[in-house]
Amino acid sequence: MAIFISLASALLFPEPVRASSALAKQNTCSGCHAPDRKVVGPSYKAIAAKYQNQPQAPVITHLSNKIRVGGGGVWGVVVMPGNSKISEADAKTLAKWILDGAP
Ligand code: HEC
Repeated sequence: MAIFISLASALLFPEPVRASSALAKQNTCSGCHAPDRKVVGPSYKAIAAKYQNQPQAPVITHLSNKIRVGGGGVWGVVVMPGNSKISEADAKTLAKWILDGAP
């Protein structure tokens, strides 16, 4: 019973916030992105602001693909290298975390 309860709470109450900032650090996103200032790439807050009035599902698809494949032209001439080691699920988690303003 105790095992069931802790399993169920792990499934129902994951910790997306901490997990996502750890994901960002672990994948060296922080080398080029900061929460509220431009580094090599745009700040997470600027990204969240840019997409805030668009439907979330297609934005998450766009951003998670871009995180994995890389690309440029949206923010300037500097291109983001692809991060193909990141799983699709982790890329989606990161995209959602960034859209939430990277808390
Ligand atoms: C080598 C530097 C670099 C690294 C490392 C990097 N980025 Fe970027 N990122 C950029 C640049 C430059 C842009 C702007 C690209 C453009 O103008 O389209 C960008 C853009 C983005 C965008 C916005 C894309 C858009 O189309 O609006 C997101 C989201 C993003 N990065 C997330 C991440 C995440 C998550 C990681 C880590 C897995 C990461 N980046 C790692 C440089 C980097």
